[in-house]
Amino acid sequence: MDAQEATHILEEERTRGLAMIAEARDADALRAAEVAVLGRKSRYADAQRSLATLPPEDRKTVGKLANEVRSALESELERRREELSRADEERLLEADAVDVTLPGRRPRTGSLHPLTIVEQRIVDIFTRMGYRVAEGPEVETDWYNFQALNIPPDHPARTMKDSLFLEVAGRSDVLLRTETSAIQIRTMEKQQPPVYVVAPGRVFRRESADATHSSVFHQVEGLAVDEGLSFAHLKGTLEAFAKAMFGPEQRIRLVPSYFPFVEPGAQVDVSCFICGGAGCRVCGNGWIEILGAGMVHPAVLENVGYDPERYTGFAFGLGIDRTAMPVYGITDIRLLYESDVRFLEQFGGVA
Ligand code: PHE
Repeated sequence: MDAQEATHILEEERTRGLAMIAEARDADALRAAEVAVLGRKSRYADAQRSLATLPPEDRKTVGKLANEVRSALESELERRREELSRADEERLLEADAVDVTLPGRRPRTGSLHPLTIVEQRIVDIFTRMGYRVAEGPEVETDWYNFQALNIPPDHPARTMKDSLFLEVAGRSDVLLRTETSAIQIRTMEKQQPPVYVVAPGRVFRRESADATHSSVFHQVEGLAVDEGLSFAHLKGTLEAFAKAMFGPEQRIRLVPSYFPFVEPGAQVDVSCFICGGAGCRVCGNGWIEILGAGMVHPAVLENVGYDPERYTGFAFGLGIDRTAMPVYGITDIRLLYESDVRFLEQFGGVA
């Protein structure tokens, strides 16, 4: 190979090499291009090897050209390598990217049952007044549900509520509690006065279901026993409750009523929180009956070993369902027990 031929090859290889490098689509293609244009078997290598056989002046000029071509190709290789790796990185980022522009698929969260919301609000109001929360079993005995509450076996009050007795071998005194009042007895049995408790719970009665009756419903019992408690304390407490629960403009009304375990006893109405007491579709005459109440009967205090000469007390039983229904505009109590998601999801957040 003479100088002219070597020069020609080097010029050709420069042009061809630069094009190959520019066209390499990925790192593998780029490595192949490098071998093809500068590798041991390349035409460039042939030309370089021929330098040894050239006369000294030619060797100098051709050698210089060979160096120029090599450094042009190398710097182009380097530039292309960087370009490809940047593109790689961008492709990776793109593949990994999380599209945050779409609304996510939220898991459906539950919400509190309307009865739970109302129960928690009621209990909150009384615990803020200093009451403690008490509990009792849903399966009760005749003693706690009736006798200790001053309802002896032949008492006509037993027929006021149709009870659900359970079949238990060898016993005929086991039933589902008909009122949370049974918890009054269990609480007093366990402690001495002063007593200030509220006791929420489910109660059960033999009832055919309709828009206003259900064989399962909910009550919050209240009981206060201390020295010197009077009917005025009962009235003041319930009035404070009604204002905290339904608004400061609410009034309450006590109508004489009968429960064997209180004397005197009263039915407690609160002024309708929908119409303000004028009379509407929900309340009829401006009042909503939500409570039974009264002064704890001395016989009840005696049944738990309290001295009725020293202690007096008041008790009340609040219907949670009866309170929740007008609050939410629910006109059929059965909706509260059907667990229909379309109904339940309307009560939104967790209170
Ligand atoms: N337990 C009564 C009822 O279920 C309500 C009540 C409780 C009345 C406490 C007076 C005192 O109707």
